[in-house]
Amino acid sequence: MTTLTVNISETPSGSYPIYIDNDDLKELKKKLDEETKERKRLVIFSEKVYKIYGKILDFKKSETFVLKDGEQQKNIKNYEKIIRKCIELKLSRKDMIIAIGGGVVGDMAGFVAATYMRGIKFLQVPTTLLAMVDSSVGGKTAIDMPHGKNFVGAFYQPKAVYINLNFLKTLDEKQYKSGFGEVIKYGFIEKSCQYGEYFNLIKILKENRDKYEKRDNEFLARIIEICLKLKSSVVEKDEKESGLRKILNLGHTFGHALEEETKYKRYTHGYAVVLGLMFIFNYALKNNLCGREYYDEAYTLMSVYGYEPPCFCGINKKRTLNYMKTDKKSDGNTINLIVPVNYGEVTEKTADSVEFDIEYIK
Ligand code: NAD
Ligand code: GLY
Repeated sequence: MTTLTVNISETPSGSYPIYIDNDDLKELKKKLDEETKERKRLVIFSEKVYKIYGKILDFKKSETFVLKDGEQQKNIKNYEKIIRKCIELKLSRKDMIIAIGGGVVGDMAGFVAATYMRGIKFLQVPTTLLAMVDSSVGGKTAIDMPHGKNFVGAFYQPKAVYINLNFLKTLDEKQYKSGFGEVIKYGFIEKSCQYGEYFNLIKILKENRDKYEKRDNEFLARIIEICLKLKSSVVEKDEKESGLRKILNLGHTFGHALEEETKYKRYTHGYAVVLGLMFIFNYALKNNLCGREYYDEAYTLMSVYGYEPPCFCGINKKRTLNYMKTDKKSDGNTINLIVPVNYGEVTEKTADSVEFDIEYIK
């Protein structure tokens, strides 16, 4: 078992633990019971996770809310339903919300926890690789609005994060690959994360494709640990994204716009992020911000993990650019971008929309 600590001075507790292990899920249940003893609790599950693990985790039905699957469920109607459930259970500030599922459930449960009674404690139990390497840590919580993804939200840190690798055994191929979208992103921002140790994540990823295929536990635990060390390093320095934290959005401006343009139906989040990475590497190359050698290396890595430049059939370029301009990180007229410059290093740029082209030049 590995324990990491996220040290954030602004949270009431100042810091919180991330536990990474491979224990039997019955052990996990015991730990969650221990964390919540003498408290009431609401456990919010992803639908598929509830179907597979509901029995073994064995929470009372009355304290459970199952959120249907899909990004479209991260909406205000479901937010209200969950708030009503908190009221029905008479949860108070002493009580606890537990999110068990992917990033959709984590973001939703976190936002409920941040806002119900101005904030009640919550635990993250991520069950997708994407949620383990990224969304369960750092305190970004949100729901989507028709105007945009994650449009309403709060920075609100969990009390603890419980990562159990056993969940990954039932993750389908598409979601597993999606998680590696965010992992690859961490490779491209590693040096900019200002973590004290250098892992060379790009190299680790390039050399271990076979372990990825086999879902090798040791490899996955190492990858999760590296990504979370990098993420924690950034979040500890800039919890509310006034500066450094923007680097975590590498690939996301175009990625989010693509998700919105395709109504969350065509790409998983991680896939959209990789398309955003391809887009931004092209932008960097065209604008002489990164060299051809690094560009080629980045494309090779993405291709090793099964990502190729796609056909953008049916994607409306004007609308997609507009989504980029209305992104939270932009000011409505220009587009805020995180751009790769050197191996593992990124910088921030503001671009005018006319500079954009969604055709890949590879
Ligand atoms: P998801 O939550 O939609 O889960 C994907 C699917 O996998 C769902 O059908 C779910 O039920 C299923 N699933 C989950 N665990 C499983 C398991 N162990 N076995 C079998 N099936 C399982 O998708 P996601 O990729 O986990 O999260 C994407 C969301 O995370 C997006 O809304 C994105 O905006 C958000 N996100 C947030 C942050 C943040 O910092 N808060 C960071 C990155 C992404
Ligand atoms: N996933 C982006 C962030 O946590 O800031």
